[in-house]
Amino acid sequence: MEKINGIEQADPVLINEKYLKSHKQIFNMAGYRAAKISTIRIGIIGLGVRGPMHLNILKKIEGVEIKALCDKNPEKVKEAVKMLENTDHKPLLFTEGEEEWKKLCQRSDIDLVLVTTPFFMHTAMSIYAMKHGKHVASEVPVAGTMEECWDLVKTSEETKCHLMMLENYSYMEFHLQTLNMARQGFFGEVIHGDGAYNTSKMNNNFGKNHYSDMWWLHQYANRRGNVYPTHGLGPICQIMDINRGDRLDYMVSVESNDFMMGNKARELAEKDPFFQEFKNLDFRGNMNTTVIRTLKGRTIMLQHDGTSPSPHNLIHGIYGTKGAALFDPAPPRLSKGKGWLEAEVVDELRDKFTPEIYKKMSNITRSSAHGGSDFLMLWHLVDCLRNGLPVPQDVYDAASWSSIIPLSQWSVLNRSNSVNIPDFTAGAWKTNPRNMDIELKNGGANTRINFTIPDKPEPDDFLTRQWKQDLGGSNIK
Ligand SMILES: NC(=O)c1ccc[n+]([C@@H]2O[C@H](COP(=O)([O-])OP(=O)(O)OC[C@H]3O[C@@H](n4cnc5c(N)ncnc54)[C@H](O)[C@@H]3O)[C@@H](O)[C@H]2O)c1
Repeated sequence: MEKINGIEQADPVLINEKYLKSHKQIFNMAGYRAAKISTIRIGIIGLGVRGPMHLNILKKIEGVEIKALCDKNPEKVKEAVKMLENTDHKPLLFTEGEEEWKKLCQRSDIDLVLVTTPFFMHTAMSIYAMKHGKHVASEVPVAGTMEECWDLVKTSEETKCHLMMLENYSYMEFHLQTLNMARQGFFGEVIHGDGAYNTSKMNNNFGKNHYSDMWWLHQYANRRGNVYPTHGLGPICQIMDINRGDRLDYMVSVESNDFMMGNKARELAEKDPFFQEFKNLDFRGNMNTTVIRTLKGRTIMLQHDGTSPSPHNLIHGIYGTKGAALFDPAPPRLSKGKGWLEAEVVDELRDKFTPEIYKKMSNITRSSAHGGSDFLMLWHLVDCLRNGLPVPQDVYDAASWSSIIPLSQWSVLNRSNSVNIPDFTAGAWKTNPRNMDIELKNGGANTRINFTIPDKPEPDDFLTRQWKQDLGGSNIK
């Protein structure tokens, strides 16, 4: 068994062999319509950076009651409560220690648990919540090991509780537009996609007061492979109808050495004893490149570089038999085969292919974080639950997109050998219906937003500053 910094790594290949021997679908969660919930009582676990961003949006959506807030750090809970001043939300508070979140999940007056803690905690919290009858929306990635991916699928099927991983990049304007273009045949047959989450997080990761308990730096030290695959992969999988007509088959992953983090840890440790524990760690490589092949013979190239000082880059390149698209670097581009199209033509095509969901919300989305995608995603989830509609991204998406974390680590540790990606749908991918109803054929009518559209974007509060800093001059407006 391989070790990283002295920690043994579970072998995902053996785990898959074990699960695939006996795995049968208990209940198909793809397309599942749970009972309608007119007012969704929400409990949020984790109020660091991401939790309050969601809170700030959810408090403005009709049919939402913020019922409970939990963070092991009482200061974070206090700050979140402040955000609800002058609203009707009067949440119960859970602040006394590491295990308080369980009490939140045990309550019978909560319908949806939002998990926004460090990612290695997501699966345990999501499973516990589902076992207590709650639908779950978890931040990305929802799982970090292969066993966790399988357990999430099994629990969601057993409990018939939705598990949606909140892949917000699927709701970016250009990503929604290219999904619509793919569905309407603009690209012909989609052959290949390029996706990435390349952005310098060096200051965040080494910031003493940034992520709670330096959790991201620990992840960068104790894992190999693509530790953050879903922003790049999710939108491409939706364009390729993965888990509904095609599925991820196998992959290889190649990783550079670390040329930055170890040096930085040693440099900081010389001046500050706080960094002593990091100075001898062997960090993951700066650039990981993973290549995936689907069962229908399409390919996906996926990158993650969280360190080098290059501009934020999602790539989001889509290549088909009849056309192509490319988001990053700016400006977003489209092609029909002879070079990139002129800006005016791109604008005309944007008007033609912007889906109903974006048109309906465009004023609001343009004035909120991550290119408006956060607002749109949460509104859509709430609207689907209120109307008893399938959630836009289901547990099979969550598991297959997150499974790239353990599988890319395995490939990197095994000289980039190829590794199979398991079928979490147990064959149902052949007939599963499409999700992510971007034309709002169902729903979309009765969930209003309690929000006065500002003339200019919302005030530059600390959350907005945070995501701008994260994006570091990206193409994302
Ligand atoms: N989708 C996106 O665009 C996006 C952006 C940023 C972060 N994220 C994801 O959101 C998640 C949270 O990231 P963050 O930046 O907010 O991290 P953070 O460290 O700022 O916040 C995590 C919070 O969880 C709390 N916490 C830790 N253990 C707990 C426990 N046992 N019980 C209750 N609370 C506990 C911490 O005190 C902290 O306040 C991560 O999984 C990250 O990958 C997603």
